[in-house]
Amino acid sequence: MIAGLSLLCMAAAAMSGVSAAGQYGQTVVSLPSSNPVKQPWVWPLPQKWERGTSTLKVNGNIHFDFESHNTILSKAVKRYHNLIFQKDDYPMIPYNWTTTDSHARSSLNSVYIDIRDKSDHLDMDTDESYSLTIPVSGKAVITAKTVYGALHAIETFSQIVQYSPSLHSYVIPNAPWKISDYPKYKHRGLLLDTSRHYYAVKDIEKTIDTLSWNKMNVLHWHMIDSTSFPYKSKAYPQLAEKGSYSPAHQYDAKTISAVVQYAKERGVRVIPELEAPGHSTSWGYGVPEIVSCVNHVPYLGYTVQPPSGQLNIAKNETKEVVNKIIDEWSELFTDSFFHASGDEVVMACWTNDTTIASYLKEHNMSVNELFEKFVLDLQDHVRSHNKTVMVWQEMLLEYKFALPKDTVIQVWVGSSGVKQTTEMGYKTVVSSSDYWYLDVGYGKPRSNPYPDVPGAGYNHWNRVYSYDIRANLTKAEADLIIGGECTLWGELADHTNFEGKIWPRASAVAERLWSGYETPSGENITSADAILRLLPWRERMLLRGTMASPLNQGFCTRNPLDCFQPPE
Ligand SMILES: *[C@@H]1O[C@H](CO)[C@@H](O)[C@H](O)[C@H]1NC(C)=O
Ligand SMILES: *[C@@H]1O[C@H](CO)[C@@H](O)[C@H](O)[C@H]1NC(C)=O
Ligand SMILES: *[C@@H]1O[C@H](CO)[C@@H](O)[C@H](O)[C@H]1NC(C)=O
Ligand SMILES: *[C@@H]1O[C@H](CO)[C@@H](O)[C@H](O)[C@H]1NC(C)=O
Ligand SMILES: *[C@@H]1O[C@H](CO)[C@@H](O)[C@H](O)[C@H]1NC(C)=O
Ligand SMILES: *[C@@H]1O[C@H](CO)[C@@H](O)[C@H](O)[C@H]1NC(C)=O
Ligand SMILES: *[C@@H]1O[C@H](CO)[C@@H](O)[C@H](O)[C@H]1NC(C)=O
Repeated sequence: MIAGLSLLCMAAAAMSGVSAAGQYGQTVVSLPSSNPVKQPWVWPLPQKWERGTSTLKVNGNIHFDFESHNTILSKAVKRYHNLIFQKDDYPMIPYNWTTTDSHARSSLNSVYIDIRDKSDHLDMDTDESYSLTIPVSGKAVITAKTVYGALHAIETFSQIVQYSPSLHSYVIPNAPWKISDYPKYKHRGLLLDTSRHYYAVKDIEKTIDTLSWNKMNVLHWHMIDSTSFPYKSKAYPQLAEKGSYSPAHQYDAKTISAVVQYAKERGVRVIPELEAPGHSTSWGYGVPEIVSCVNHVPYLGYTVQPPSGQLNIAKNETKEVVNKIIDEWSELFTDSFFHASGDEVVMACWTNDTTIASYLKEHNMSVNELFEKFVLDLQDHVRSHNKTVMVWQEMLLEYKFALPKDTVIQVWVGSSGVKQTTEMGYKTVVSSSDYWYLDVGYGKPRSNPYPDVPGAGYNHWNRVYSYDIRANLTKAEADLIIGGECTLWGELADHTNFEGKIWPRASAVAERLWSGYETPSGENITSADAILRLLPWRERMLLRGTMASPLNQGFCTRNPLDCFQPPE
């Protein structure tokens, strides 16, 4: 079998005389008897969808009709003109699979977009729902409460359009379409670590693009860490001057604002993480007096990963510097969430610092008490900017701090943490490393934290997809999950390999957080069905320029049922 036979042209060849009834009552004679295309090739799977059996040509000058003053929408329409019309004469899609007529019956010339709410405010509570109808003749119609719902609708539309080499045309298979869609979880994110390795802005923006195509809506920007301080602060320029890898490895205010705006135009929120007070060596190059145990060698006993260095929690100056950075970030990152971090602290770093030891003695305090006071003050400062505070799970589960009930806890150590945080009544973002860490399994970098966490091996796409974040929870506990994030920590990732590590595994997370685990009518959404959509979705991401990794041999992309068997 040669490549280059399209989805549509092979339909005729593969006829076996069986009829398939469309939901709209039309009947197509002559579809393959064992047609496996149960679900549309849309990723993530829409909540409700109906399709027919007619093929439409898409006019190359298709017109999107909407109120012209909507700049987010006009820019999106321009982008999607390019994304929709990407010619692929030899599509790597399954052989002989189709559910649509082999000839085009009419053409689609325009899409009408109706947005109810004119505000372009983007936040966790933004309504992202939409509906999309594509009739056999006449206009397609998108309806959405907000422009962000409309962006998702256009994305779905773009995924329905296929290039047909046999018809030499872009087509919409399976018209008429009727889709009504909304996300199961509000927070659907990816963590990117730009401290261990620096990412150029174009790579961050490319990641934002691919997030938006997967209907993910959060970029968790882990900007600073022990290894480097790429943030160019206005008040403390010496932090980046001395703490970044080089002047070429920095993010200034203008750049950050541009990234935040770029993301907003794609429906993606950018949440900054201010790593503190652990993992803070890099602050100490610019402002030495605020960091304890800077780069102690050997590092063992002072940190879980070199270089050692934690913010000096006994000094007023530390608070002054940190609060100033919080002030700057609160303005630059317009989102209402702010990640105040708080992970992986080693007490010996502090107790061996004489300034801290004498402070504790003088104030008759334990190091844990001082630590708690420091982080609660820091978080209060974040709250003074009207931000919702997000922290890593240790703040609650390991250090057992008295966190206000509006704090959002991000679970990472292992999936059991989700039960603990939700039992305690906290809103939770799920990132369990045993399922959703995308950086692990490539061999242990020296002193990898928590090397003995079960499942610290490579999380294959199906393991990622198999993770039910509601496992073992009561309904009330499950309702406290606001969403999840997969993470790409930076030890072994940089511009050379980050995309292949993120995609398409983050797509598996994207679908669980958008589509959920069951359809609205109660059927399980299974990986056996998902792989049949994920394969073409990976190919489409490639076509759009994202270096998504293969899911199996090319043979399996062409003959999925021969490879991905038996289904669970
Ligand atoms: C596709 O269909 C044709 C015609 O029925 C058949 O000869 C061919 O073997 C099929 N190819 C594959 C890979 O199934
Ligand atoms: C810190 O200092 C104490 C006492 O001075 C010592 O016993 C301990 O080993 C030191 N900790 C580390 C990690 O070196
Ligand atoms: C540090 O701040 C506290 C509270 O504002 C104040 O009471 C104390 O005097 C300050 N210490 C120094 C050394 O400035
Ligand atoms: C120090 O704190 C401990 C426990 O909080 C208390 O029992 C003790 O009396 C305090 N000592 C002084 C000198 O205040
Ligand atoms: C925070 O919100 C309150 C109430 O909505 C408002 O009065 C106040 O000005 C806001 N503060 C900041 C720093 O935005
Ligand atoms: C649910 O609980 C079972 C039994 O304790 C455990 O084996 C399993 O790992 C838990 N699942 C998750 C995802 O936490
Ligand atoms: C759906 O999945 C759940 C949980 O994995 C399982 O218990 C249930 O039996 C499945 N339902 C069907 C109809 O397969």
